[in-house]
Amino acid sequence: PFTAKALKSGVTVEVEEGQSLLQALLDAGVSMDYSCEGGVCGTCIVPLVAGEVEHLDEFLEDEEKDTHMITCVSRGVGEIEIDV
Ligand code: FES
Repeated sequence: PFTAKALKSGVTVEVEEGQSLLQALLDAGVSMDYSCEGGVCGTCIVPLVAGEVEHLDEFLEDEEKDTHMITCVSRGVGEIEIDV
């Protein structure tokens, strides 16, 4: 599990194993665009403000990985902050 603070929305979500960050955000009422839910299309991208992320997508270029994450497949380590 990991914790994600969504700064613009003002909500903090706990993401359990077997659940995506995208799903946790949607469940918390955060408006999110998404499509493939498989880490390929990039629609569910969010800016990453703080924290360490295990990037599991096939969309981001290496140089984007410090500042963005793909919420349908990638996971935080501990606590992360995203700008959504
Ligand atoms: Fe396609 Fe997340 S919805 S990459």
